[in-house]
Amino acid sequence: MALKITVIGTGYLGATHAAAMAELGFEVLGLDVVPEKVAALAAGRVPMYEPGLEELLGRHVAGIGGSSGRLRFTTSWDELEHFGGDVHFVCVNTPQKHGEYACDMAYVDAAFASLAPRVKGGALVVGKSTVPVGSAGRLAGLLAEHAPEGVDLAWNPEFLREGFAVRDTLHPDRIVVGVDGDRAEKLLREVYAAPIAEGSPFVVTDFPTAELVKTSANSFLATKISFINAMAEVCEAAGGDVVKLAEAIGHDERIGRKFLRAGIGFGGGCLPKDIRAFMARAGELGADQALTFLREVDSINMRRRGHMVELAREAVGGSFLGTRVAVLGATFKPDSDDVRDSPALNVAGQIHLQGGQVTVYDPKGMDNARLLFPTLRYADSALEAVRGADVVLHLTEWREFRELDPAALGRVASHRVVLDGRNALDGAEWREAGWTYRAMGRPRA
Ligand code: UDX
Repeated sequence: MALKITVIGTGYLGATHAAAMAELGFEVLGLDVVPEKVAALAAGRVPMYEPGLEELLGRHVAGIGGSSGRLRFTTSWDELEHFGGDVHFVCVNTPQKHGEYACDMAYVDAAFASLAPRVKGGALVVGKSTVPVGSAGRLAGLLAEHAPEGVDLAWNPEFLREGFAVRDTLHPDRIVVGVDGDRAEKLLREVYAAPIAEGSPFVVTDFPTAELVKTSANSFLATKISFINAMAEVCEAAGGDVVKLAEAIGHDERIGRKFLRAGIGFGGGCLPKDIRAFMARAGELGADQALTFLREVDSINMRRRGHMVELAREAVGGSFLGTRVAVLGATFKPDSDDVRDSPALNVAGQIHLQGGQVTVYDPKGMDNARLLFPTLRYADSALEAVRGADVVLHLTEWREFRELDPAALGRVASHRVVLDGRNALDGAEWREAGWTYRAMGRPRA
């Protein structure tokens, strides 16, 4: 009999994980406390933009014509208890606490508290949320106290990237499981049999190591981005070109070319909050010195946003008052509708607060951006955003923006000045169309 799997929390991570588990052949029940989210998923609709996820849901959600029927969603803990899952994945989010660096464990704690008395004896609970090191040990204690005999815990961090969530979940570049016994490992090998057979490395660790793998991986990625952005600052001071520099150092296999795109820096729901929570946790453990460099990584990153604002101010003659600024991009990266801690929206907001008339256009992030920043203006297309603009800021590297016709935009802009905050546009093409093109960490032409 195929394993029965539950997924608690159906955001980016949980919705994708639930659909992927159904795709792998398991019987799956997803639970979330937000009824609208559950209603959408149960109808096969994805409440956020994630390429490929809707198709995957359509293939498995019960009640959809032609689906396998292996995937259902509920808000009811009683239904989850009745379902009698063999493996329960906890995928709720761990946001940054208000006014603090530490991460908020309230959703994880609530999920475990509801789950513990409802799991059947012998089941496995698997944490996937990103948590401060030490949490798994504490939660194992909670299960021992409130769950029936023989319920095990494992920690199985996720590494999915928004925009590639389906691929990253079905074909992970590694599977990391923190366990404290053979039984949990055996069950997880069964769950992940397909990707393991495909060659995904399966790394077995203890609890703290598994928790640390996730936060250290994100810290490394953040450090790599801030490193190249620091080089961009030096390049600007010295007249160098950070794009060429990244290409050249990237040829060294030990360094690699990925995650060396200089620009306005990283954002999103993971990298910024994860490095902060990691610093906070290290402080609690008395190891804060080990991570003081992350403070620098964070400040280099935040400086990029301010630097972009300054470049824009310079481009409009020293003051934003009475000027029109077009912002292309609102999401924290392309192929996502996520605007959480988005550098693009942050820059747009700063300019707006300083008196500029900012008009934003994004291919997928408009609804979320409007909710977060209702006072900005929004246009229905790049062309409309650029109409009458004194300066154009390219802040999220959507393909749509690379395919824009600079000549057509030039005919509607007030001034042909474009600032490329992602080093992704073809500068030569824009210059040919009469634009002053400026990018971050590159010489002025
Ligand atoms: C990240 C991790 O990559 C993933 O493994 C983890 O599970 C969750 O956090 P995600 O937040 O989806 O994933 O975004 P990612 O693709 O890592 O990009 C993060 C930010 O860094 C984006 O704002 C992006 O624009 C920026 N970035 C990325 C750069 O500025 N330069 C780069 O070279 C790469």
